[in-house]
Amino acid sequence: MKRKKIVAGNWKMNMTLDESVNLINELKQISTNDVDIKIAPSFTNLNKAVSLLDSSKIEVIGQNVHSEQRGAFTGEISIEMLKSVGVYSIIIGHSERRKYFNENDSILSKKAKMAIDNSLNIIFCIGEELSEREKGNHFELIKNQIINGLFGLDKDQIKNVVVAYEPVWAIGTGKTAENYQIQEMHEFIRKLFNDKYGSDISHQIRILYGGSVKPNNAEEIFSLNDVDGGLIGGASLNFSDFNAIVQAANG
Ligand code: 13P
Repeated sequence: MKRKKIVAGNWKMNMTLDESVNLINELKQISTNDVDIKIAPSFTNLNKAVSLLDSSKIEVIGQNVHSEQRGAFTGEISIEMLKSVGVYSIIIGHSERRKYFNENDSILSKKAKMAIDNSLNIIFCIGEELSEREKGNHFELIKNQIINGLFGLDKDQIKNVVVAYEPVWAIGTGKTAENYQIQEMHEFIRKLFNDKYGSDISHQIRILYGGSVKPNNAEEIFSLNDVDGGLIGGASLNFSDFNAIVQAANG
């Protein structure tokens, strides 16, 4: 079964409003029917991004969300707030949230459940540190991140989830994982979904790779059997690189 590829740009804590507007105006030129394109600007730029991309196929998504509906959580953003500005998907569990903001499996599973229960789609990130890989623990760790973070969702809910495998040692380092490392992990992840939810779901679920995807390596990574696109950091911050990566996913 052919799964439509996704190329999602995670802008992280980059881009002022003016910079975002400039980049979005360039992104509007991207032409493809074969790829789902998403961008995740910072919260302050979401509203503007949604209005600029109103008639475009590019989807604006959030980088994070709080697990409670509303209340005394200074500095946090709720699901309702995101939806009120036209954002219906978010990234959950990015390794930077796990590492710098202590978001553990239990917080992340709560966020995932709350998001899905309230009709937000999610890109759920998982990934091992280099030390875990060197100890040979990477498969076990990824399995636990998935079981703890996502397997509380039922079969209908899991259809609204995209998984992003981002080995932490490949993020922002210029050190991409080897193709065989990417493919074997994606295959492993798909098998976990098969064992839990059955073959229809495991064939449908899209698994993105993230970690130093650039124009010069995107095509070969995206051609791997179980890779359904990419979650792009640094290279999503300029038009020509991001466009080249989208084109690499095309067709
Ligand atoms: P880089 O593409 O900069 O390595 O970042 C990947 C990432 O963390 C996307 O979420």
